[in-house]
Amino acid sequence: MSKQFSSASERNREPILAVLREELVNSRTVLEVGSGSGQHAVYFAAHMPHLIWQCSDLQMNHASINAWMQEAALPNVLPPLVLDMEQPHWPTQTYDAVFTANTCHIMAWHQVQNMFSGAAQRLNAGGKLCVYGPFNYDGKFTSDGNFQFDAALREKAAHMGIRDSEAVDALAQAQGLHLLADHAMPANNRLLVWQRV
Ligand SMILES: C[S@@+](CC[C@H](N)C(=O)[O-])C[C@H]1O[C@@H](n2cnc3c(N)ncnc32)[C@H](O)[C@@H]1O
Repeated sequence: MSKQFSSASERNREPILAVLREELVNSRTVLEVGSGSGQHAVYFAAHMPHLIWQCSDLQMNHASINAWMQEAALPNVLPPLVLDMEQPHWPTQTYDAVFTANTCHIMAWHQVQNMFSGAAQRLNAGGKLCVYGPFNYDGKFTSDGNFQFDAALREKAAHMGIRDSEAVDALAQAQGLHLLADHAMPANNRLLVWQRV
């Protein structure tokens, strides 16, 4: 698989950048879980040159991430690590932040659990876990669009689906992270930010 293009990444990259600029102003190193096409990585690294951005994903996405990286030729994006939440082999290095976009509703719940526990352990003191995507609140969808999206996901694969914000917050809290911010994003998405105390 060569260079892939995600129109969703293209649409959401600016609002995500606006939040990350503030949340990661004091960060230096970021690990991204589920880098996907690689578009986010090169865009965020180009606009936040103070960061060293470490990509990761399943092996099958690496060719696309590498293609975007080669084209962008940035000094602050690191080649993707193989990081599968089914059996995660986390890097031994720790980071100032872990970022992931649109992964919680794609991964099976036990993989989401692995992501939160592993990410928390990879964060330096004061480090932030930033998670972008759609979430439910009080057991309810926040829009008809999200309701339909969830139904389409579950039809595609039973393990997928929009998660409850309270459930992911409980995962984070169990790892010693506290919710710092819950940013409302366009198209009924959220950007949740937890901090390691
Ligand atoms: C909807 S895509 C989002 C990609 C990218 N973050 C974005 O926002 O455009 C979901 C991503 O989750 C990754 N993913 C799915 N299962 C995974 C797993 N078990 N471990 C790590 N990543 C996984 C996929 O490979 C894919 O890159």
